[in-house]
Amino acid sequence: MARLKVAVIVGSARQASLNRLLALALTRLAKADLEFEWVTIRDLPIFDQDVLDAGIPPEVERLKGQIARADALLFVTPEHNRSISAMLKNAIDWGSRPRDASVWAGKPAAITGASYGRIGTAAAQQHLRAILGCLDVAVMGLPEAFIHLHPGLITPEGEVTNEETRLFLQGFMDQFDHWAGRFAGKPSAAA
Ligand code: FNR
Repeated sequence: MARLKVAVIVGSARQASLNRLLALALTRLAKADLEFEWVTIRDLPIFDQDVLDAGIPPEVERLKGQIARADALLFVTPEHNRSISAMLKNAIDWGSRPRDASVWAGKPAAITGASYGRIGTAAAQQHLRAILGCLDVAVMGLPEAFIHLHPGLITPEGEVTNEETRLFLQGFMDQFDHWAGRFAGKPSAAA
């Protein structure tokens, strides 16, 4: 069976983003039946209905095309003031319009995020679940992955240096693989 295309959406454009690093680690830990396409969201204009009504901007067309082609979505969100970043919310809003042409509906997804703070983006992830719920995105329930990152836990190449964390993230990706596969009609590995 063909590999499943996963769109990777990181809610930070920061050069040294913890969440980009986490996303890189997750893609490295995934099984070979998942292939990843990184989605750029930093260049999207701020959502404005007047802009949309005047014609979909090319950056938005690119976003919508990438999401539409994806079999599944991997969101890796920073926490900004106990919610997701404005940049990520903006991308989600663009993808949801025009109302009858939302690219999100029916896609399976997994969400996670990293911060140096102890709660590891738990509050942001709860908000993200609520937002994606109203867009009919099927977010994997468990495992939850609130990553309390500390310097050196993930190398710049995306290697996880702590064995316990590596196994946990591996399990998260295995479950996501299973979850995405169910939506694509793949037989369960356990069957
Ligand atoms: C933060 N940060 C933060 N961290 C956290 O754990 N809870 C929070 O509510 C916030 N709030 C917050 C607001 C704003 C405006 C900024 C810029 C930052 C810190 C945040 O976790 C940290 O900057 C991470 O490094 C952001 O993720 P990236 O950009 O490294 O992926």
